Amino acid sequence: MADSSEPPKLPKFFEGAPLHAHSFQWNKCWETKCTPWDRGGPSMALHDLLKENPLGIIQLPTEGSPKRALVPGCGRGHDVLLLSSFGYDVYGLDVSSQALDEARQNAERALSEGLYKIEASTRGAINWTCQDFYAEEWKDVPTPFDLIFDYTFFCAMPPPLRPAWASRMKSLLRPGGRLVCLEFPSEKKASEPGPPWAAPPREYLGYLSNPGAQPPTDEHGGVVEGLAESVSPGGLKRLVHVKPRRTHESGTQDGRVQDYISVWAHADE
Ligand SMILES: C[S@@+](CC[C@H](N)C(=O)[O-])C[C@H]1O[C@@H](n2cnc3c(N)ncnc32)[C@H](O)[C@@H]1O
Repeated sequence: MADSSEPPKLPKFFEGAPLHAHSFQWNKCWETKCTPWDRGGPSMALHDLLKENPLGIIQLPTEGSPKRALVPGCGRGHDVLLLSSFGYDVYGLDVSSQALDEARQNAERALSEGLYKIEASTRGAINWTCQDFYAEEWKDVPTPFDLIFDYTFFCAMPPPLRPAWASRMKSLLRPGGRLVCLEFPSEKKASEPGPPWAAPPREYLGYLSNPGAQPPTDEHGGVVEGLAESVSPGGLKRLVHVKPRRTHESGTQDGRVQDYISVWAHADE
């Protein structure tokens, strides 16, 4: 029998909640300290991508050319700190003010302990901002971005929110910019409850190829393989899709990496 002191499982928080109440539910998770998604550290798959930067696919910040990055749904902000160590001026955005309080504390502790060593000429600025990703106007956040990093934000969106997720991503990405997704959970079935909702590669392809549109789905709301993969002129095209050498433990099973890392650009580039 489950211990009554055990925190409720994440899907329980969202069971039956209407879409407009999801932000409230996320905040409730933070307030009740139900944050099973937190990995306790940055995404090493993102670290390795930026460090190796195959074919120079990402324009990294340099002294004369600052770059701005966004981490939507940043939670405790581990990946915000990582991007800032690569020189990006980063905006960690979350709808929960409690999440951002914890992100600030996490940053103070991590930086005072000497974590997130600088990988560029200088550390980029770190900004925390409490906003709804889908709000048309954000207060005090300059857009668009050179780089957007999504880890466990896409899978926090149930299928009906995914067309809006894709069109918002597209509008926030500067021409020449890159959206990087660390894809998780890649092997979960669409029939299983979320969050996290299933996120196999065909989901990212289906929604990002034609932002704002609803790709063909099966009876569980999962994108149908192969039917939605031609990129529309206003869509995002996938430049890179690989299994990273290193990723979070939750993205591996029996030592086998399940996560993918993908890099996206505007199709007309
Ligand atoms: C699964 S957690 C992932 C957190 C973080 N990316 C990490 O890896 O630890 C999803 C986060 O997205 C935030 N979130 C959910 N909906 C949001 C929205 N509409 N706008 C901004 N943040 C949102 C939640 O508060 C939560 O912190």
